[in-house]
Amino acid sequence: MSDKVKICLIGCGRAGMIHARSYAGSVKNAELIALCDPMDENLDAVQQELKEIRWIYHDYREALKNPEIDAVIVVTPTQFHHDIVIAAAEAGKHVFCEKPMANTAEECDEMIKACADHHVKLQLGFMRRFDKSFSRGKELIESGSIGEVSMIKSNTYGPSEPKLWMFDVRKSYGPIGEVNSHDFDTLRWYAGSEVKSIHALGHNFRSPEMAEQFPEYYDTCTVMLEFENGILGVITGAQYVKYGYDSRTEILGTKGIIKVGSQKTNEVEMVTPGQGIQMDSMDSWRTLFHDAYIAEANAFVQCILEDSEPKVTGHDGKMALVLVHEGLRSILEKCPIDLTLK
Ligand SMILES: NC(=O)c1ccc[n+]([C@@H]2O[C@H](COP(=O)([O-])OP(=O)(O)OC[C@H]3O[C@@H](n4cnc5c(N)ncnc54)[C@H](O)[C@@H]3O)[C@@H](O)[C@H]2O)c1
Repeated sequence: MSDKVKICLIGCGRAGMIHARSYAGSVKNAELIALCDPMDENLDAVQQELKEIRWIYHDYREALKNPEIDAVIVVTPTQFHHDIVIAAAEAGKHVFCEKPMANTAEECDEMIKACADHHVKLQLGFMRRFDKSFSRGKELIESGSIGEVSMIKSNTYGPSEPKLWMFDVRKSYGPIGEVNSHDFDTLRWYAGSEVKSIHALGHNFRSPEMAEQFPEYYDTCTVMLEFENGILGVITGAQYVKYGYDSRTEILGTKGIIKVGSQKTNEVEMVTPGQGIQMDSMDSWRTLFHDAYIAEANAFVQCILEDSEPKVTGHDGKMALVLVHEGLRSILEKCPIDLTLK
């Protein structure tokens, strides 16, 4: 391999475009040389914006035959992650895979094994671990400044109206999968431990007209967690809140508290008679985590060049998936779940 890691983006949709921009512009030791997507329209959109992409593929199997490609960024719909990641590992390509990692924990195990067997890196797409504020939170926990961590609370509320397929929560998992999978990863990372038990509740507040057709649909949820090291966790989630993207985390310790995140986009305030203080609120995960996606891409390239362990591993991807699945099971069966019995 040369001093630059040559990248192929597999999946050029909404999130693929974010990765394409990072690799084409802001990652020092990488070069985006190939794109793969069955849809010409999506390929064209990336090509028009980024130009100078050397290879275009409609089938990932063809892309994987190209010896110039060192690594792939897998950003297809989740159902295809397993097959693509295994084929990439077998072709000797390093892999970055978006979350959710796959459809089942067994598929995750197979992906982890394939990457280990073929000595390629596997990094998962939990970009909050590369966000400056979330990373500072972790540093402060480790410094011991707030004493022993007793409880971690994290919320993610998303603005968008659910697409029709999302109302079937057995396929979409609802907000616990759509918006909270990142919170599960953050809590595991901050707690430094695995979850022992989970109890989740959900309710549909914003789409009552869909309740008859989709009685299991929920747009709001609360999740209680107990970690193996005794730390308590609370995650709240909501979809279609409309007012913006809202992600904040709080870590309570025996000697203090750490608060990560805010709803502000910037530090600008406007004050007018009768309207009080007005500020710009956060509109989207794309804005909030813009720099985190670039840092995530840089870290992936660095771990390939330095032959070091990725900061977010296949195991992290698998555990977030397990928690989403068990959280939904807890909502549907209306009971707490002891994960140590599995
Ligand atoms: N980390 C995050 O915060 C974050 C945010 C959004 C999406 N995601 C994840 O990224 C993945 C993609 O989501 P999206 O919103 O970009 O979806 P999308 O539907 O906008 O894009 C998916 C793209 O993959 C292409 N595709 C489908 N099958 C393919 C195949 N076999 N080979 C190559 N390309 C194929 C589609 O044509 C489409 O262009 C999902 O797993 C999603 O959960 C992660």
